[in-house]
Amino acid sequence: MPLSDWQLLPPDLDPQRLPNHVAVIMDGNGRWAQQRGFPRMMGHRRGVRTLKALVRCCQDWGIPSLTVYAFSTENWQRPLEEVNFLMQLFEQMLWQELAVMHQQGVHLQFIGDNSSLPPSLQAIMDYARQTTAGNRSFYLNVALNYGSRQEIVRACQAMGRQIQGGQLNPDEITENSFAQHLDTAAIADPDLLIRTSGELRLSNFLLWQLAYAEIYSTPILWPDFDRVEFYRALLAYQRRDRRFGRLSSS
Ligand code: IPE
Ligand code: IPE
Ligand code: MG
Repeated sequence: MPLSDWQLLPPDLDPQRLPNHVAVIMDGNGRWAQQRGFPRMMGHRRGVRTLKALVRCCQDWGIPSLTVYAFSTENWQRPLEEVNFLMQLFEQMLWQELAVMHQQGVHLQFIGDNSSLPPSLQAIMDYARQTTAGNRSFYLNVALNYGSRQEIVRACQAMGRQIQGGQLNPDEITENSFAQHLDTAAIADPDLLIRTSGELRLSNFLLWQLAYAEIYSTPILWPDFDRVEFYRALLAYQRRDRRFGRLSSS
């Protein structure tokens, strides 16, 4: 199929059965660069390009919501040089892309604990969130300094404080009310999780929210993940039988 044809949803995908929400662990930037003899940072730069292209693709193909793992709470353990580079890259990307994303109707949200991010990055994140708050055509959620266990602990702390203050009865806590205390309170659970670079682990990503997501892993490294690879992931997704514990989905 010529590349121009990938603008439209490939005909063998059923538009009625696309995932509403795709989550992605964007992994393999470092290896992509190292394989080419480049510094790891080059891989991260190419990774940003891939993300921009995927946002466009989701919009073209009619997938309304995307959550991407950009930096984990564990990623602080990397060399300071790489951590600093990534923080600057996130900031630069937001400054550069905000106007275009806003124009495209992207609603930007962030999940994770932003309080320990550099103040200048927090400022542009707040600005981006506020600027795009009214957009409804596409939802991009970026997990930045995100760790699912930490998120769950923060939710428990918030509920504990409500119990202590007499506003919450422990017996009335439900799955739904608990989920409302997570960073993803306003976001439906992902239908499909894609992890690039061949790893078969969650790395502390959306442990609660992925309870019934379909998982797709590909050996493709994140900078090489293109529309064809996304099509393959969606095709695999549409072949799954999502039973949710029942005997059959039909
Ligand atoms: C994913 O790529 C991006 C971040 C974690 C920020 P990696 O940097 O983990 O790349 P690999 O896994 O080392 O190849
Ligand atoms: C997960 O990738 C985090 C992001 C993609 C941001 P890692 O590369 O940090 O995960 P591990 O260390 O291989 O589990
Ligand atoms: Mg990695």
